[in-house]
Amino acid sequence: MAGVSRTVIRYQKALYEILNGLGATSGTREGLELILKSAVRTLSASAGSILFLDSTGKKLVHSVTYGLSDAYIKQGFLDMDKNSVMEEGVVVTVGDGASDPQLQPSQRAPQAGLSSLYTGIVSLPLTFRGEVVGTMRVYSRQRREFSPWEVDFLSGLTRLAAMVMERTPQVENPTSPTPGTGYGLATKIGRPVIFAHPSEEEFARLLDFYHVEWLYEPRSFPLQWDGERVTEMFTPDFYLPAIDLYVELTTMKQSLVTEKNRKLRRLKEQYPEVNIRLLYRRDYHNILAKFGYGPLGQAPARDVSQVLISSHQIQKRVRQLGEQISQDYAERSPVLVGILRGVFCFMADLMRAISLPLSVEFLAISYYGSDAQGGLRITKDLDSNLTNRDVILVEDIVDTGMTLNYLYNYLQAKHPANMAVCALLSKRARRLANVPLTYVGFEVPDEFLVGYGLDYHQEYRNLPFVAVLKAGEEKKPLVQRKRAKREKEGPE
Ligand code: IMP
Ligand code: MG
Repeated sequence: MAGVSRTVIRYQKALYEILNGLGATSGTREGLELILKSAVRTLSASAGSILFLDSTGKKLVHSVTYGLSDAYIKQGFLDMDKNSVMEEGVVVTVGDGASDPQLQPSQRAPQAGLSSLYTGIVSLPLTFRGEVVGTMRVYSRQRREFSPWEVDFLSGLTRLAAMVMERTPQVENPTSPTPGTGYGLATKIGRPVIFAHPSEEEFARLLDFYHVEWLYEPRSFPLQWDGERVTEMFTPDFYLPAIDLYVELTTMKQSLVTEKNRKLRRLKEQYPEVNIRLLYRRDYHNILAKFGYGPLGQAPARDVSQVLISSHQIQKRVRQLGEQISQDYAERSPVLVGILRGVFCFMADLMRAISLPLSVEFLAISYYGSDAQGGLRITKDLDSNLTNRDVILVEDIVDTGMTLNYLYNYLQAKHPANMAVCALLSKRARRLANVPLTYVGFEVPDEFLVGYGLDYHQEYRNLPFVAVLKAGEEKKPLVQRKRAKREKEGPE
């Protein structure tokens, strides 16, 4: 019993120290280090590690470590399949880390000898917002068991770790039109990314701003072997799936650059199929230019508070819509009716994504009178007969739905065989008239959007992405906007 109370006092002291320390730190990494250190010390163990699942959800990567041998970390990731026990959120205690297959590091060339470095391992699932996102492990060099008390204590610490992660701002975009598809690990696996260096975070935020999808340290490449043993490993900082490129950020420190260059050369030799670039801070803009953004791209993000849908996302979605329409209209030959002018970018891309014989028609409209409801006039009519045709009305954005409602009825009166509506964007929150949308590219928030054909006073149509305009003029209600537009430049 005396032993138990001594243990309890030790745990209390550890908790007190952690809570005190957390009050004084704000960084996620610092907070997790503090917890890990306390876990290892309180259990008189040798080392600890917090491992997170990577973006595939199949590999565990050492993210925060304490006292763990470098060689051990360099073994790289652990396969989730071998740790499937985590899926159920079960606590694993092994007396002998070397002999338990669930705790074996696995990769192309397992490092013999190392797996017996730590012979007592306890592993607890790390849950964040209801999902297992990784594991906290404590390692002992001596063969030992972990008592239920110790496991309970650690389990409490994993909950503290989750709270530390919770207070970190998520690297994610609150107005993401497609939540869950994610930009970077944060949204993908629902936890904040723990960057090793502030410049990495800066780069990630820049990529987020432009909605360029990224993964942080998603893969480790073994570079050198000594027989079966991996003696050198390289983990690039970022991966940009859209251009299939790994990026390693670097500072101006020449000694580090030389070493990194050597590793990169080695990586290129070993993995010729992998594209990787060493990136200086001043080179960030070059990467963004590849996506058409930034000071070197064709599209300066002036007046834009945020890129909502990247050009890559638009292209991908438009291709899907085209495929869907091609399937739905198989053996038929639809006529696409676009509403000028906002629709021209979308129409041009959409029609090329449809693998059917088709024709295109355009209507142009303008608003008159003092309210949006009554005031719609057709300034350019159809050029051909729609009777008995399969008509697809194509719109850039459906806001209140008034415009669409009017045009839908207008086209119905031409006696087509059938009518469908395809809108790139839909602001459902503002809908007044409910015309059924057959195909929708993206649901978007109630913000004034520009780019990819959408304008504000005729400007911004040439942006290759859809963006939120900076606060100001656009905040006026739509009727006022339309009136202002009319007064400024006459018919739309
Ligand atoms: P609705 O009649 O309210 O649905 O408005 C539809 C029309 O208003 C669209 O065809 C656009 O021309 C314009 N519009 C609505 N929202 C936006 C926006 O966010 N940016 C640019 N134009 C918009
Ligand atoms: Mg329009």
